[in-house]
Amino acid sequence: MYIMEEGLGHVGSDYGAGDPRPKRTIAFSQVENVYVIRYENINPQGRLFGGQLVSWIDEVAGACAGRHTGLPVTTASIDNLTFKRGAFLADRLVLLARMTYVGRTSCEVRVDSYIEDKEGYRHTINRAYLTYVAIDDNGTPIPIPYGLEINTVAEKARWDGAILRRDYRKNRQHMGF
Ligand SMILES: CC(C)(COP(=O)(O)OP(=O)(O)OC[C@H]1O[C@@H](n2cnc3c(N)ncnc32)[C@H](O)[C@@H]1OP(=O)(O)O)[C@@H](O)C(=O)NCCC(=O)NCCS
Repeated sequence: MYIMEEGLGHVGSDYGAGDPRPKRTIAFSQVENVYVIRYENINPQGRLFGGQLVSWIDEVAGACAGRHTGLPVTTASIDNLTFKRGAFLADRLVLLARMTYVGRTSCEVRVDSYIEDKEGYRHTINRAYLTYVAIDDNGTPIPIPYGLEINTVAEKARWDGAILRRDYRKNRQHMGF
């Protein structure tokens, strides 16, 4: 069990306490975007088209990864993209992107999508985890110069979840499915 105390920040790295990189906080790169759902975003069933939402998710997550890394990034994979509720014409959609994990050349961003009602309450409609890889002009992966500062138990839990997803993904690739 992790105890909230000064010094927890050293945990946030693949390299453990020995990570030589300077760190950036999750707040540093957090991105929040608001969209109002228009006619052109609606599918024949009268709901928000899922592909449109995925495009917006990739946009905010890419901006978040770009802020953290300070480098060009490309989308490597999208994990656990779960549609929990539909969204409809004129709904106010809020997308919140936050870093969960930073590896050597790759990093993971979690995006929570909400519908914000008239009272300002947010109702989750989607959650997704996206992995970005920092690349040079030739598209070759390059090291990310900043680690991720982890300050709370919740941030540590999200970091651990990212490691699990990374390992599952590698296993799937290894097993060929
Ligand atoms: C993403 C890409 C740059 C990775 O290149 P690669 O030569 O396979 O990279 P490597 O095997 O050296 O791995 C580099 C890093 O990417 C990670 N990675 C590679 N493939 C991945 C995948 N499918 N999902 C998540 N992470 C992945 C590795 O774990 C590694 O991370 P680390 O350095 O933090 O440990 C390459 O596959 C690519 O260009 N893909 C197309 C990306 C694109 O066009 N996206 C837009 C969508 S249309």
